[in-house]
Amino acid sequence: MRKPLIAGNWKMNGSVAGNKSLLDGILAGIGAVKTAGVAVCVPYIYIPEVAARLQGTSVAWGAQNVSTEAKGAFTGEIATSMLVDFHCQYVIVGHSERRTLYGETDTLVATKYGVVRAAGMTPILCVGETLQEREQGITEQVVARQINAVIQAHGVASLAKGVIAYEPVWAIGTGKTASPQQAQDVHAYIRSMLAKQDKTVAEGVVIQYGGSMNAQNAAELLAMPDIDGGLIGGASLKAEDFLTICKAANR
Ligand code: 13P
Repeated sequence: MRKPLIAGNWKMNGSVAGNKSLLDGILAGIGAVKTAGVAVCVPYIYIPEVAARLQGTSVAWGAQNVSTEAKGAFTGEIATSMLVDFHCQYVIVGHSERRTLYGETDTLVATKYGVVRAAGMTPILCVGETLQEREQGITEQVVARQINAVIQAHGVASLAKGVIAYEPVWAIGTGKTASPQQAQDVHAYIRSMLAKQDKTVAEGVVIQYGGSMNAQNAAELLAMPDIDGGLIGGASLKAEDFLTICKAANR
């Protein structure tokens, strides 16, 4: 049985005061989230304060990106060891915003996936097609290519303890959610492509859905058999909405 994971991706949002009230709100209601794992992936600079606030609670924390390098002359970058210093458990890699706006390639994302695992943290590997790719009917090829880059670099076993987030680019921040069936179809495809290589990995890997998941639509998405949680953008910035989603993941 896979344990669902709801992770908030705060993206470039937050402030010291705002984060405090958001986390206070989440912690006030987290007792009702019995079975799902919960995490927040926050801007680097807020990691120390978020870590201090969440330590000893059932909410884990993580980052939204990381350098492939261990240390040295890489101005503006953050190394895995620095995230480990602050007990980050998760690191998002290959978010579509990083792929599109910052030119991250499948190969670079696969390298990041590897350094995160090597540091003992859990990578959340984001994959997903653009609207154009969906209209061309190549959704499966796109997600397969993105996942195969990781398999080629690190082997299929490297996905056993990872998390995959299927985030159709056209659904991110648009309010246009994939229908539960559209999402389920891609999740089932991902699991079947992995099963061809390793059935145990395919059965065990957590596959989140992301893209305009919110308090209203979470329950029906999370009811689908291959949707094991969510990677939540906008709705993770409101404690009440985020908690509603987390509770919908109780199994
Ligand atoms: P939204 O939930 O704001 O659509 O963002 C989804 C996302 O990109 C999470 O990583």
